[in-house]
Amino acid sequence: MKTIRFGVIGCGLMGKEFASAAARWCHLKDMPAKPEIVAVCNRSEGPRQWFTEHFPSVKQSTSDYRELLANTEVDAVYIAVPHNLHQTVYIAAIEAGKHVFGEKPFGIDLAANEAILAAMAKRPELLVRCCSQFPYFPAVQAIGRMIESNAFGTLLEANAGFLHSSDINPDKPANWKRIVETNGAYGVMGDLGMHVCHVPFRAGWIPQNVRAILSNLMPERPDGNGGRVETATWDNATLLCEASDASGNNFPLTLRTQRIAPGESNSWYLEIKGLKACARFNTRDPNTLYLLEYANGQQDWRAVSVGYSPVFPSITGGIFEFGFTDAILQMWAAFVCELADAQLPNALLAQAATPEEAHLSHRLFTAALESAKNGICCKV
Ligand SMILES: NC(=O)c1ccc[n+]([C@@H]2O[C@H](COP(=O)([O-])OP(=O)(O)OC[C@H]3O[C@@H](n4cnc5c(N)ncnc54)[C@H](O)[C@@H]3O)[C@@H](O)[C@H]2O)c1
Repeated sequence: MKTIRFGVIGCGLMGKEFASAAARWCHLKDMPAKPEIVAVCNRSEGPRQWFTEHFPSVKQSTSDYRELLANTEVDAVYIAVPHNLHQTVYIAAIEAGKHVFGEKPFGIDLAANEAILAAMAKRPELLVRCCSQFPYFPAVQAIGRMIESNAFGTLLEANAGFLHSSDINPDKPANWKRIVETNGAYGVMGDLGMHVCHVPFRAGWIPQNVRAILSNLMPERPDGNGGRVETATWDNATLLCEASDASGNNFPLTLRTQRIAPGESNSWYLEIKGLKACARFNTRDPNTLYLLEYANGQQDWRAVSVGYSPVFPSITGGIFEFGFTDAILQMWAAFVCELADAQLPNALLAQAATPEEAHLSHRLFTAALESAKNGICCKV
């Protein structure tokens, strides 16, 4: 099996998730290649130590991403740093000739995103993808197959959302994700938005315009040092879009992202209503796909137990259930397969999110900011 040598830039929450996925690569069947982490970069030393303790393959540990990018032993990089660094680090990685798996939102704003895409255009031989793992839940893959076979018929509406309650405690100190300079003006849309856009965009449901309601529910928080700090980022966002599909049918698409959602832990959901069928899924109930197919005129939802049936086959038996870290592993399987020039499974949602999909999300969030500011409907 071919080995792809990875550098990790940003060894925090998500950097470690990748490392954990790489460590259980044997979980996947029939992979054409495997990732090996050979270099790590993080501003502070503590998170790098975690990597060097757990991964003997790590030969370089540095606080300077330019040193890692100069390392000729590194083929590809995973970049998981605060949003204000995306533009500089992603472009530097592309210019250094590294393949890039970059975290969303793929630039702090539209201008940063377009600068990254311009750098990519000059190096078409490199593989560049954007992280977004929720479409790899088996129930969502099943929805993808329904979209491909036009099982929904004419679309009536689609609703996607990502709700959690990470910020419901007003005493939780602010980190970089609550500060506009580091997280960006999009606020929660920059954090969670690509996750909810991924399936609709891949389906070809393109928002034409948007009406946005954005809420900053906690405008200040403890700074962690006994003081208070302004947290001007949007906590919750509801976007009502008019979307159109390939056949020119227009329908409402609602995209909801919330960091203050009582009762929700990490609930990613998708609901599609069509004239021929409807489907809904929520990670709260990860093993179940709800379907309504109008059989015999009955208006009844049925609950299908999907089991462990991922798009990239693995050793886990079909009778078990799937979870967050499995979705991360599947997303990495997609990226590594593409890197190895292997054929991806023939499925709408097999390929990882593309920079072009991330770009469309930036156009949408930028229009949403204008919509909320002026109280108007804005063209995307
Ligand atoms: N896919 C997902 O589900 C998911 C979940 C959370 C975050 N994210 C994304 O991942 C990225 C990182 O988020 P996180 O939650 O891992 O953040 P984090 O704060 O846990 O980790 C970021 C790391 O970057 C390091 N860092 C900061 N400046 C640096 C620099 N100049 N050079 C090198 N390292 C530097 C920090 O020390 C920190 O360890 C963001 O783009 C975020 O949107 C994705």
